[in-house]
Amino acid sequence: MKNILVTGGAGYIGSHAILDLIANNYNVVIADNFSNSSPLVIKKLEELSGKTLPFFDVDIRDKNKLTNIFSTFNFDGVINFAGLKAVGESVEEPLSYYNNNVCGMINLLEVMAEYKVFNLVFSSSATVYGIPDTMPLLETNSMGAINPYARTKKIIEEILRDLAQSSDEWKIIALRYFNPLGAHKSGEIGENPNGIPNNLAPYITQVAAGKLDKLYVFGNDYDTPDGTCIRDYVHINDLASGHTAALNTLLKNYNLKNNFEAINLGSGKGYSVFEIIKNFEAVIGRTIPYEIISRRAGDLDVSLADVSKAKRLLGWEPTYSIKEMCADVWRWQEKNPNGYV
Ligand code: NAD
Ligand code: UD1
Repeated sequence: MKNILVTGGAGYIGSHAILDLIANNYNVVIADNFSNSSPLVIKKLEELSGKTLPFFDVDIRDKNKLTNIFSTFNFDGVINFAGLKAVGESVEEPLSYYNNNVCGMINLLEVMAEYKVFNLVFSSSATVYGIPDTMPLLETNSMGAINPYARTKKIIEEILRDLAQSSDEWKIIALRYFNPLGAHKSGEIGENPNGIPNNLAPYITQVAAGKLDKLYVFGNDYDTPDGTCIRDYVHINDLASGHTAALNTLLKNYNLKNNFEAINLGSGKGYSVFEIIKNFEAVIGRTIPYEIISRRAGDLDVSLADVSKAKRLLGWEPTYSIKEMCADVWRWQEKNPNGYV
């Protein structure tokens, strides 16, 4: 069995990916500093997987602690989910974003190189595309990140590309996620935002649960059929299996032409804000009150993935419908009204 270090593994995407990795016979070691997650996630993962999971409370910027982990385990690869991800916060505190995301990644890469662990899957984002010229988005579209968070992802991708060119030993896949949605079928793990959510789905479920009064729809004057923004929502379990597929490609059946590949993970289907509201209303059986307000700075009218590269290189395809995404989020919200408490 292959040993994988999962940094940021207690977070929303990492926790779901870990269950998929275990189901596919990978041994997982988790490192997280809980800056945006709870230790309870580890307990839940152990219950759901039936395994004891080696876990380390570590900041990826702490080289000594990382070195201790690498000297204890013989890793075949690393998945790095550890990162700060709130766009608005990154505008207010750019240095903490560059420090956490970029310095953290460099630190991790240096320790990987020291221990000759050269296989990496990195959490990138559709946000690296900036304001695109064509839609759906292909990986060949130019990058044009428009805020500090997005630039941390772009800079890291550039570092990873340089590294892969510097030596044939490195094998790196950057997965560019579109909009993750959904939760594990058990309803035991899911997205657990701090405070008032920034993103659409957790905001809607908190309105439905009576924790917030109404949803504010950011603009209905976009160049889309109903005037609200269209996004490519992808089920969290599909995203999770995308990581297993990426690791399988790196470790088992390497067939990539390049040592670095950036690959979109989305559903390839777009839904407007109004369509998402309607899907949640159908699942929940209640109307979601909303008010239309002005546009949010930085929002694109449409963001949609071309996922043919993921199919071609990783053999991965999204499988879940938007209805399942909404139903699974709602199950998680109902079972855990206060998140991981
Ligand atoms: P999350 O905040 O739920 O998970 C990130 C985890 O990393 C958290 O558990 C946090 O405590 C940990 N972490 C942060 N900085 C760390 C550090 N320096 N050392 C150790 N642990 C650290 O976020 P998520 O939604 O699971 O996202 C995972 C990754 O995917 C992030 O890098 C994010 O930027 C990227 N991403 C997320 C989305 C999304 O919509 N959720 C979209 C595109 C890309
Ligand atoms: C946002 C981030 C993106 C990040 C992604 C996942 C911005 C500009 N982009 O993407 O970098 O990778 O989250 O974390 O912040 N909406 C409302 N009301 C709300 C919330 C959202 O109308 O209360 C609308 C938005 O205008 C958007 C859509 O819903 O059109 C989806 O928004 P959101 O869930 O925040 O995702 P993105 O903006 O696509």
